[in-house]
Amino acid sequence: MKILLLGSGGREHALAWKIKQSPKVEKLFIAPGNAGTGLVGENVAIAATDFPAIKEFVLNNQVDMVVVGPEDPLVKGVYDYFKNDSQLASVPVIGPSKEGAQLEGSKDFAKAFMMRHNIPTAQYKSISADNLEEGFAFLESLQAPYVLKADGLAAGKGVLIISDLDEAKRELKGMIEGMFGDASKTVVIEEFLSGIECSVFVMSDGNSYKILPEAKDYKRIGEGDTGLNTGGMGAVSPVPFANEEFMKKVEDRVIIPTVEGLKSEGIEYKGFIFIGLIKVNNEPLVIEYNCRMGDPETEAVMLRIQSDFVDLLEGVAEGNLETRELVKDPRAAVTVMLVSGGYPGDYEKGKVISGLDKVENSIVFHAGTKETAEGIVTNGGRVIAVSSYGKDKDEALAQSFANAKVINFDGKYFRSDIGFDL
Ligand code: AMP
Ligand code: GLY
Repeated sequence: MKILLLGSGGREHALAWKIKQSPKVEKLFIAPGNAGTGLVGENVAIAATDFPAIKEFVLNNQVDMVVVGPEDPLVKGVYDYFKNDSQLASVPVIGPSKEGAQLEGSKDFAKAFMMRHNIPTAQYKSISADNLEEGFAFLESLQAPYVLKADGLAAGKGVLIISDLDEAKRELKGMIEGMFGDASKTVVIEEFLSGIECSVFVMSDGNSYKILPEAKDYKRIGEGDTGLNTGGMGAVSPVPFANEEFMKKVEDRVIIPTVEGLKSEGIEYKGFIFIGLIKVNNEPLVIEYNCRMGDPETEAVMLRIQSDFVDLLEGVAEGNLETRELVKDPRAAVTVMLVSGGYPGDYEKGKVISGLDKVENSIVFHAGTKETAEGIVTNGGRVIAVSSYGKDKDEALAQSFANAKVINFDGKYFRSDIGFDL
């Protein structure tokens, strides 16, 4: 079969790597892809949100399935675009409908959904210009620190955690007045939860589901989880605290009510559900939903799937996921992200990357790279994810750190403490 994968990051390279291993795949296209995906399949110079260009490509190349990496095309309705077009309706899109993608696209929608289905999460209130005073009163009723979340997509920057009450009130007002544009016209104020987080990934065909290997990501730029938030500096799978007992609670209290809730509300959802969880007193609470796989978690999670991933994707598309087999690799898998100097602030692009051919016993996934006449150069903040297996996380991490030193580019930085808290 011919598959078109949308996106251009490390997540997409990892998905492409896994998809390409399937004997069912005749041809893999990635739009727009990066220098790494170009080694696995054929890159196509189309933006992941350019639906008319995607349509033309799918029809001209007899694409049999579209797999969506990032949230943007999903929140903009790529699933519905295909479903409502007579020429495209027979081509399955792996990803939720526009309505389903609201689990990520609107924090207010996600919180209300969790309330309707009794899914454990922090208490909250949604505030806009009309009820700002209620927002101030709600903040006064909470203990510090205060959590303010822009309702809409804000490129991962829409969450503020503030220790001072007056400052929280000022920031709330600022958000509603447009600090994050339209995304923060509504703000979700949440009770602060203290605990350790992990990411759980579910594949659903709208009826049944499979739980993929879980992972923990490391979001801060600095060692010991300090400094600014990034898109993610590394990930580890499995997560020791997500043991059988904990995951049983997650399945019963979060996963089943989520899949059943979507179904009972008639929300079409054939794709990935990423559940950001926090463990508080050994109980799982939902911090957030995303409507796609995580990045950099995917760069570890794909290593832990032994079965044919395309067979699972077919199960999602055809609505018979329960007949497909998911076998997990018992080994540990990790990824360590190499980033550009200055990231997540300003950084330069176009630095030549060397040493990629000297890497041994790791899998290199490209995140922000580009093929040029001078060779492969940096083309983003997060540049390369170095993924490895090991009998445990320490062995896998030692391997990734060793290869992180072999790859070089001007300004390279990585966190050498990934997994430190597990
Ligand atoms: P989100 O975009 O909702 O995942 O929020 C980004 C990050 O902010 C999360 O990964 C958490 O580390 C933190 N966070 C979000 N909500 C809360 C909360 N209610 N309590 C504590 N930390 C939170
Ligand atoms: N690693 C978190 C995310 O993909 O949003």
